[in-house]
This record gives sequence, C-alpha cells and structure tokens, in this order.
Amino acid sequence: MTRIVLLPGDGIGPEIVSATRRLLERLGEFEFSEHPVGGASIDAHGMALIDEVLDACRDADAVLLGAVGGPKWDTTDPSAPRPEQGLLGLRKGLGLYANLRPVRPSPALVNASPLRTERIEGTDLLVVRELTGGIYFGDSGRDGEKAHDTCEYSVAEVERIARVGFEAAERRASAGGQTPRVTSVDKANVLETSRLWRETVTRVAREYREVELDHMLVDNAAMQLVSHPAHFDVLLTENMFGDILSDESAMLTGSLGMLPSASLADSGPGLFEPVHGSAPDIAGQGIANPLATFLSAAMMLRHGLDRPDEASAIERAVDSALEGGLRTPDLASDGTTRPAAPGLPEQIEVGTDEMTEAVIEALAA
Ligand code: IPM
Ligand code: MG
Repeated sequence: MTRIVLLPGDGIGPEIVSATRRLLERLGEFEFSEHPVGGASIDAHGMALIDEVLDACRDADAVLLGAVGGPKWDTTDPSAPRPEQGLLGLRKGLGLYANLRPVRPSPALVNASPLRTERIEGTDLLVVRELTGGIYFGDSGRDGEKAHDTCEYSVAEVERIARVGFEAAERRASAGGQTPRVTSVDKANVLETSRLWRETVTRVAREYREVELDHMLVDNAAMQLVSHPAHFDVLLTENMFGDILSDESAMLTGSLGMLPSASLADSGPGLFEPVHGSAPDIAGQGIANPLATFLSAAMMLRHGLDRPDEASAIERAVDSALEGGLRTPDLASDGTTRPAAPGLPEQIEVGTDEMTEAVIEALAA
C-alpha cells in the first residue's frame, strides 16, 4: 500500500490538506499518517520539526504538506523557534535539493491575471529552484550591532540542479514538440557564487546539446517575467532567487492559490506542497482555495509515485471545475459574476468544500 505522510501545518494548511485527502481517497487506496510541523509542532513540542516526524517522512512513499507559519509565531528573537525551520529542516533532512514549480495559467483564469491577456497568453514555464544550498543554509549569526548570512555553493551542488533543469527542459520539449530552452538566472555581475553558478551551468549544458541555454541577471529576469512571461521555458536558479521569482511567476496566473510544487531528492520520498503560504488572515473560514494542493497531489502522483494517469485525472478535474465557473474568493477578484471568457458560464463564488466536491465530481465524470 502506498504510504503518504500528511503535514497540514498552520493557517489554511489543515483545511486544504484535509480537502486533498478526501480527493485522494476517491482516487485510490492510500495509507495516510498525519503529523504536526511548523507552528503546530512548536505548540505541541516546542520546535518546528521533531525527529519522529522526519523519520516518518523518510519511511513514507511521499509527503504532502499544507503550509507553515503565522503571526502567532512571528519573532525576531534569534533563539526562538520559527515555523519555517520545519520546512527547511524537512528539505535538508530529506535531501530535497530540486524544487519544481510549474506555471501555466488555466485557460479559464487568464482574466484573473494582473497582466493583460495578450501578455499572459502562451505562458507555460517551469521554475527549477535549488532548494538546499545558498544563503538559506549558509552560516548566519548576530554579533551585537551586526548580522550576517552567508551564501555558498559548490560545483557539485550546481551541477546536480543544472541536470534537473536540462532534463526537465528535454522532457517538456518532447511532450510539446518545441526546442528545449533553459534560462539560467544569476547575479554574475556582482556575486562570486553566481559566477561559479554560470560557469558550471555552461559546462553541464555541453551534455545537453539539444537544449538552448541563455543566462539572465536576476533583476532583468524579474522584469522580463512581467513583460514577456511567455518567452520562458525552464527558469533555472539558486535558492533565494528561485524563492522570489517563483512567487512572482505564480502571481502571473492570477492567484498564488493555483500553483503547486514538487521538491525532489535523488532517492527517497519527495515533498509536495502548494507555493502559497498559510494565509492566516482567512484560516478557519472555509474559503481557502484547495486547488494548488490538489495540483500538488497531482505532482505527487506523477513525480513521486509514478501514477501519471491519476495525476492527469486530477488536473483535468481542476480545469473542469474552473470551466464550470466555480471560484474561491481569491480567484473571483474582479468581484463580478461575469463569465471569465466568452463561451464560459458565469462565475460562482464558492468555499473550500464546494470546490472540493466539484473537483471530486469531475473526477468521476
Ligand atoms: C517557499 C517559502 C519558504 C522558502 C519559506 C516558508 C521558508 O517561501 O517555499 O517558497 O522561502 O523557501
Ligand atoms: Mg517562497
């Protein structure tokens, strides 16, 4: 039996993870176990991730996480536990160095994008973010009036994430028939780690002759993402740049509430989670958008459990609920019920449960 560890976490995490569990239970037989992480674990155990939970994750076939964090645990005291340590500890502890964040606006949602339709149309990109190195994991500390965070990368760390990027580009190209392209993002005009990054990515690219590689400075990439998002295919970058650019890319789709992610190791279970955070302001109201977590479960089935047919079934069911006009409040941002596009029905604002039921129904159809 396939064993899935559920880590609901904080804020809207528990609502969207329990909705996703219902969806998965309709799809097949899974053995679930649930554990606290982040703020919930700080409340229960005084720290954001305990060894038992990390061990349970190691023993599982895949891990599905909601979100961590919230104002209750916000602190600038360097010695106090922080929810984010739970997530960072999982990534490090499971060796999840490759983070994949696909960005493809659902056709029914192009109007929800803050960009004009003609800009956003054709956007279909994948952010490949290095996840266990760089400034988030380097030495850091406080010394009186000073603080430091260190950014370090080794050639080996850059090589392995570069391969993930090139291979993802090849897979996407063979599915879609276009030339595979990788845009490697760095700050090589200032940072030494970026120069090592650029040099290494260029060298690894020689193993992937079919793939077109270009390099872009991160500030320019931030600009190009809003001016010409459709220009990107695979965007390969280091940890912090990937964190920032993936939120920016996610917003292109009209809602951060739509974007899934997969964090993968060379072996062992992957971790799958929505890109959005714990949204404490709407937690417990029954209005959280579960779709990014559904789509994360689809990534889990495809990348973590080798069940691609069920993955596609979830993706189609999500599209069909949206095409039917259903919108959680974050997606119904223009405040009208006008059809999202010609030929589509009027939009109906719904909560988490109704959206979940609609997707489950579409699965069966
Ligand atoms: C993300 C989040 C995390 C990160 C935080 C919660 C530590 O923003 O997954 O992008 O920065 O990696
Ligand atoms: Mg982030």
